Amino acid sequence: MLRYLRHAGRMWSSEVNDAMVDQLAPTGVEHVADIGAGMGAGVAVAARRAAHVWAIEPTPYMQRLLRLRTRALRLPVTVVDGAAEATGLNDVSIDAVMAVNTMHHWVDTSTAAAELARIVRPGGRLLLADEDFDDPGHPEHHKWGSMNNTNGEEHHHHFDMVGAEQMGELFAANGFTVTIAGKVDLVGRPTLMVAADKPV
Ligand SMILES: C[S@@+](CC[C@H](N)C(=O)[O-])C[C@H]1O[C@@H](n2cnc3c(N)ncnc32)[C@H](O)[C@@H]1O
Repeated sequence: MLRYLRHAGRMWSSEVNDAMVDQLAPTGVEHVADIGAGMGAGVAVAARRAAHVWAIEPTPYMQRLLRLRTRALRLPVTVVDGAAEATGLNDVSIDAVMAVNTMHHWVDTSTAAAELARIVRPGGRLLLADEDFDDPGHPEHHKWGSMNNTNGEEHHHHFDMVGAEQMGELFAANGFTVTIAGKVDLVGRPTLMVAADKPV
């Protein structure tokens, strides 16, 4: 828990999540799933644009915070005890999937790709991004880059299990048309991004 409290500021709201919702561009009739929703930085923004947001989150105290936050704000959000590998959502029920700074936590990326392919409807889309804190060009590289992380905290903020390109290949193998699978600049932050569309 302490690890996440250190990040509480940017997990409550962040430019990266704002930019991701802008890029995902949910409409007022769409259902969005935020995978690894954390404290709701993306959920709170997406829920003001979408018909409904499904906040998928495996960590119990994050779920509690998310429920408190979204109920207090009366947002159209359902918090689900789930993970990328098992979202708990119905088949082809989701128009748009987003995930921010969580792919590096996914234990089984092949299962996660198949799971997201299961829940996205034909014609739907996904947008996944992990900031690359290991890139010296990242404004917080000095703080969170693995080489510079001297605060004794276990390092979590880089793709150490699979690269964005390999993630793209996994989604292509699951029937998606991949439009981005690599490093991009997202609000001045080097970011590993996967964007893909599910053909109709
Ligand atoms: C760094 S936080 C990011 C939270 C939020 N997306 C944000 O941008 O503020 C990473 C989140 O991933 C969640 N997580 C851990 N393992 C996961 C998994 N297998 N599938 C989905 N989310 C996971 C954690 O509980 C945590 O809330």
